[in-house]
Amino acid sequence: MEKIFIFDTTLRDGEQVPGACLNPREKVEIALQLARLQVDAIEAGFPISSPGDFEAVKAIASKVKGPTIVALARAVRKDIETAWEAIKKAEKPRIHVFLGSSDIHIQKKFGLDREKALERGLEALKFAKSLCPDVEYSTEDASRTAPDYLVKVLEQVIAAGATVVNIPDTVGYAVPQQFGKLISYIKEKVPNIENTVVSVHCHNDLGLATANSLIAIENGARQVECTMNGLGERAGNASLEEIVMAIKTRKDYFNFYTSVNTREIIKTSRLVSRLMGMPVQANKAIVGANAFAHSSGIHQDGILKDRATYEIIRPEDVGITEHAIVLTARSGRHALKHKISEMGYDLKGEEFETVYERFLSVADKKKRVYDEDVNIIVQDVIFAHLADTRLYSFESYKVKTGNGKVPEARVRLQKNEVILEATAEGDGPIDAIFKAIDKIVGAYHKLEDFQVKAVTETKEAMGVATVRIARDSFRTLGRGSSTDILEASARAYVEAVNRIYYLQSRQSGC
Ligand code: KIV
Ligand code: ZN
Repeated sequence: MEKIFIFDTTLRDGEQVPGACLNPREKVEIALQLARLQVDAIEAGFPISSPGDFEAVKAIASKVKGPTIVALARAVRKDIETAWEAIKKAEKPRIHVFLGSSDIHIQKKFGLDREKALERGLEALKFAKSLCPDVEYSTEDASRTAPDYLVKVLEQVIAAGATVVNIPDTVGYAVPQQFGKLISYIKEKVPNIENTVVSVHCHNDLGLATANSLIAIENGARQVECTMNGLGERAGNASLEEIVMAIKTRKDYFNFYTSVNTREIIKTSRLVSRLMGMPVQANKAIVGANAFAHSSGIHQDGILKDRATYEIIRPEDVGITEHAIVLTARSGRHALKHKISEMGYDLKGEEFETVYERFLSVADKKKRVYDEDVNIIVQDVIFAHLADTRLYSFESYKVKTGNGKVPEARVRLQKNEVILEATAEGDGPIDAIFKAIDKIVGAYHKLEDFQVKAVTETKEAMGVATVRIARDSFRTLGRGSSTDILEASARAYVEAVNRIYYLQSRQSGC
């Protein structure tokens, strides 16, 4: 298998997105992450464009080890000097010189003819080469350039020492078959083409940037210029994650590899999105929130039987750890059962059917049903008959407390017609009550959440206490109400304890 070099230009072309401006510290943070992603080259910026960009490129050149660090320059002496100044401390520096090669660029932008443009390009290349051994030359707007002129330019810049020649589809005009033919034409007609690496740089104006990059590889390109999340000028550049994952997933077809550590893709995508303030669309290939989420019942059923039914990429291969099953109104029984058993419940027959019905009626009202919603539905169904089988019932409490005194609570519960009592001290009166209850039942419970709310706004308002406790693998909620909030709390705690005993007895079958 041959290697495809990944040239990341998120920090240069990607940063040309309106409003996505990064400060030097942010650019370094992204560059360090791109190095962890193991791209081959990082185009760190366009140093002549602003003092801030110069500083950022310089900082990246001195701090980021591993990839080649590239600085962009027009075919202008001052640009090239500044680019070199910014990257000369890099482990592997590269100057990237670009000059339009299409007639429309040559005539309208520079007011030159083809020969004069070629002279300017060669002069710039030679100057860059006198500073830096690694120089890339881009024939801007190559896909709209006369092919014979393109061949002539490429032959001469390669003879002058270009280590990489880049064929940009600057305006996203190319279509795959035609672009593939252009690369193969270049490979055939440029006599010294084997002395350099052929690169492509595709824009996405027609949504074809990834397809054009892949067909270019098939026809001889060995470097692909791309950006994280497909960011870039106008409709963006070819997206790094799409190209890398297409090559990896379809290695049977492409027979190439990249050195990218794909497990870092999601982390990189999220960092770029956050720092550039550019949200990723939910259905974006590979990195969108829905890229690995399955919501239809048929798909969820298939995924649970064998992930390969509806997944061509393992989510963990791109660094995704979140659950793939999203519960919605279209989820079927299989997906809900799977979620419930992941939560530690074992529901069968009628009980499961009741949960399923309630789930569907909640799902009809909500776009997405979260784990917490499912937990409440399941517990409501499970505990529907608990009233008849409660182990403990609350009788009364007394609390001794006051300024500078350690609060002490005495609690009375009833179990099987027998009154049980215990006294305990606590950090506050409620803590003392909960500890006294634990003493009576002979078990410790971890208090995970505790809230008291007034139902009305009068002084004699009913207080409703909600307690969430955990013991071993069991976790339950209890609610209690009273005009006395200490009593409401005690009742809520006893209810939660009863629920734990109930779950325990269901599990042990007695
Ligand atoms: O799109 C383009 O042509 C560019 C060049 C500078 C490579 O970004
Ligand atoms: Zn570009």
